Amino acid sequence: MCKIISILNHKGGTSKTTTSLNLGAAFARLERKVLLIDLDPQANLSQSLGVEDESNTIAQVFERKLEGLPIKKITELLYLVPASLDLSAIEPGMYSNINSYFLLKGQLDKVKLNYDFILVDCPPSLGIFTQNALIASTDVLITVQAQYLALKGLDTVNNLIATVKEKLNDRISVLGLLLTQTNHTRISKDIAHSLRTTFKEKVFNTTIRQNVAIAEASASRKDIFSYSPESFGAIDYTSLAKEILQ
Ligand SMILES: Nc1ncnc2c1ncn2[C@@H]1O[C@H](COP(=O)(O)OP(=O)(O)OP(=O)(O)O)[C@@H](O)[C@H]1O
Ligand SMILES: [Mg+2]
Repeated sequence: MCKIISILNHKGGTSKTTTSLNLGAAFARLERKVLLIDLDPQANLSQSLGVEDESNTIAQVFERKLEGLPIKKITELLYLVPASLDLSAIEPGMYSNINSYFLLKGQLDKVKLNYDFILVDCPPSLGIFTQNALIASTDVLITVQAQYLALKGLDTVNNLIATVKEKLNDRISVLGLLLTQTNHTRISKDIAHSLRTTFKEKVFNTTIRQNVAIAEASASRKDIFSYSPESFGAIDYTSLAKEILQ
């Protein structure tokens, strides 16, 4: 059975894209077949994988100019549906059409049997692209940056998931909350403590440490395993993949 995981947080910079890329690469190294979906007009995930073809992206699927998903092969076990800036132009027109909310689900239903995992990199908003992701997903992974005010806003995320579950997709469940960019500061440890006190076993045991190799890898258009296989980043994302597979 294919797990379709939305990587979510409407707060910016919480490592959604980094997690989509490196968790996807970690699964592929563990012999799982993975499809990454870039749903963010910023197209950071596509850029991190060196894909910048503006004419074959998820935007044309939402505009109904393409019938099927434009799937790019990255490696034998890793595939990508890219995004482009065009997404931001088509977003306003989508809200008035009820069918727009189910476009991604319809597309993923056609291909999901080909993959073990589909990871959807959501934009930092709870708009129609994120709603498409939640309607299409079996699971949600919420990235929480270990920083001041990180817990504020988690209620908003949880409310949206609850609404989607009640009205549109009753099989969706929260896979877990992932602490990212942790370090040895007091504030980082306090956030981790509060998150575990509030959300208990819903918080992954694995945390992703702050690690400069992670940022360098994306800038070099590589996943962390190709860039620095011995780094904390590579160790942490492998540990996360194994925790999810258990
Ligand atoms: N564990 C980490 N250690 C160091 N840098 C990191 C780590 N995780 C992410 N970064 C860096 O932090 C920045 C934000 O990460 P990323 O783009 O993954 O967040 P995002 O949630 O996708 O952001 P947005 O909300 O804008 O889509 C990037 O420059 C990324 O390289
Ligand atoms: Mg992002």
